[in-house]
Order: sequence, then structure tokens, then C-alpha cells
Amino acid sequence: MMVFTKKEEIQKYLTRLKSKGQSVGFVPTMGALHQGHVSLVQKALEDNDIVVVSIFVNPTQFDNREDLDKYPRTLERDTKLLNSVSTHILVYAPTVNDIYDNRIESEKFSFGGLEFEMEGKFRAGHFDGVGTIVKRLFEIVKPQNAYFGEKDFQQLAIIKAMVKIHRLPVRIIGCPIFRELNGLAMSSRNERLKPEYKKVAPFIYKTLKSAKKQFGTKSAKQVTEWVEEQFAKHELLKLEYFIIADVETLKPVKRKSKNKLYRAFIAVYADDIRLIDNIALN
Ligand code: PAJ
Repeated sequence: MMVFTKKEEIQKYLTRLKSKGQSVGFVPTMGALHQGHVSLVQKALEDNDIVVVSIFVNPTQFDNREDLDKYPRTLERDTKLLNSVSTHILVYAPTVNDIYDNRIESEKFSFGGLEFEMEGKFRAGHFDGVGTIVKRLFEIVKPQNAYFGEKDFQQLAIIKAMVKIHRLPVRIIGCPIFRELNGLAMSSRNERLKPEYKKVAPFIYKTLKSAKKQFGTKSAKQVTEWVEEQFAKHELLKLEYFIIADVETLKPVKRKSKNKLYRAFIAVYADDIRLIDNIALN
């Protein structure tokens, strides 16, 4: 498996392969890879001749310095895991300099209003950082297809909006949330959970599933209040937000309409670790 750290080198290598007519699929990640990431890589391997996985902890999308510093960096383990999936994967693991050239700053983006909801409200500047890095990575890798998880549903929606607004020549493919057997959505942050928090974290998905059931007969407001009550009673998990939103606009639903799709979104603190999850409601 090849690991590139410089954009010129991977670009040169990819140009040669593309000139032979090979299609390129791309999976951007921040590393600390788990089976959720692997499920995206496998889908990319099915659809494309070549798959590029980037591993880069992007400083501009962190609103919290401590979160950035504590983010796990496990490049050797990551490349081993990818190698066990396929020896043909190309890894791009750049330095901060290779991407930002000493100017660690976000560009300003407009994502048609999606950026003001949920994560946008609670993580200032986060989506400008995501837009900046993903656009730069697209310019370096120039993939035909790029794969993003529904685990970060708002991020997926924002990337789709960015591609449309900036007319980028790439197809965005959303992939389902990959979960632990106990229902907890896989995340690089799960590794940092202390045992007592790991034990209770599946409560998040259990509550989402129950909310989905209730949404059949109850209003969004009633379901939201019920979820808030469950977390108010919980000894360890702290709810940051629970929102039932329209899948297209990501705005909170006021009155249910039959011909719209809804999803429930949740952010929870387990100690100092922030976990997010979501579920389709219809
Ligand atoms: P990261 O959190 O490493 O996630 C990389 C990709 O894996 C994202 O598209 C994310 O949605 C997907 N993913 C993570 N956990 C998943 C799970 N349990 N099931 C399915 N997909 C999952 O998201 C980022 O990195 C960054 O913001 C990035 C897009 C790389 C830009 O820096």
C-alpha cells in the first residue's frame, strides 16, 4: 500500500493512473479508523478502480483547542487496518503545512442556510473548516466519487450543497451509519470514553429508536420533551440537543407533513466527550 505525505507526489501518481482511464473514489477521514470508516472504503472499492483515503486531523474545523489536541492520531494502526482491507488503497496523510502553507485559516462558505442549524449553532466555524479542507482535498485528489457517512448527516448535506454551489466535478455518495453491536454509532471519539461512560453510551441510540416509534403518533414537540426528560433523569449523559428536522432544510419541524422526510438528531456529552447520532424517522 502506498502512503503519500506530499500533494505533488500523490497528484503525479494519480495523473498517471487517470490517464489510463482509471476511476478514482475518495474517502476523506481524520484517522483513528474504525469499521465505520472501513464501510465507506469498501463501498468506494466496489464502485471505483482506485481508492484514495486521506488521513488528516484538520485544525480549522475544531472550535475547541483541547479537542484538537486530544484527537487520537494513530497513523501506523490506520495504515495497517487499510492494508488489511485492500493493498491497493492509496493513503494521503499530509502535514498541516502541506494543506495550509502556514496560514491555518478557514475560507468563508455559504451552504444555503444548512450551516446555521444544529452543529452550526453549537460549534462556531466548524463547517467553514470542513468546507475548506474538503474543497482543498477535492482539488488535490480530483475524485469522480467521494464517500461520506450519514453519521455526520449535516456534514454530508453541507458537502452536497458545496458541490452544487461551487459546481465541483464530483459525485457525493452518502453511506449508512455503522454501529457497535450494542447500537452505539462508531466514532473515533469512542476510544476515549471511560468504561462507565462506554457502558451507558448505547442509551443514546436506544432513545433515538424509541423516539422514532413515538413519532408515528406523537408530535415533534411531544417526542422532544420526552427525550429531554429521559436525559434529565440520566446520571451520566448530558443532552446538548435533540432536534427533529426536515431532511432537506435541516430546520426543526413544527408541524408534520405527510410528503416530507424527517430525521432526529442528537448531541450528548459523555463526560467531556461529545457524541452525535441520528435516525431516519420515516
Ligand atoms: P471523520 O470523523 O474521520 O469521518 C470520516 C468519514 O467517516 C465521515 O464521512 C464520517 O461521516 C464517516 N463516519 C464516521 N463514523 C461513521 C460511522 N459510524 N458510520 C458511517 N460513517 C462514519 O468527518 C470527518 O472525519 C471530517 O470532518 C472530514 C470530512 C474528514 C473533514 O476533515
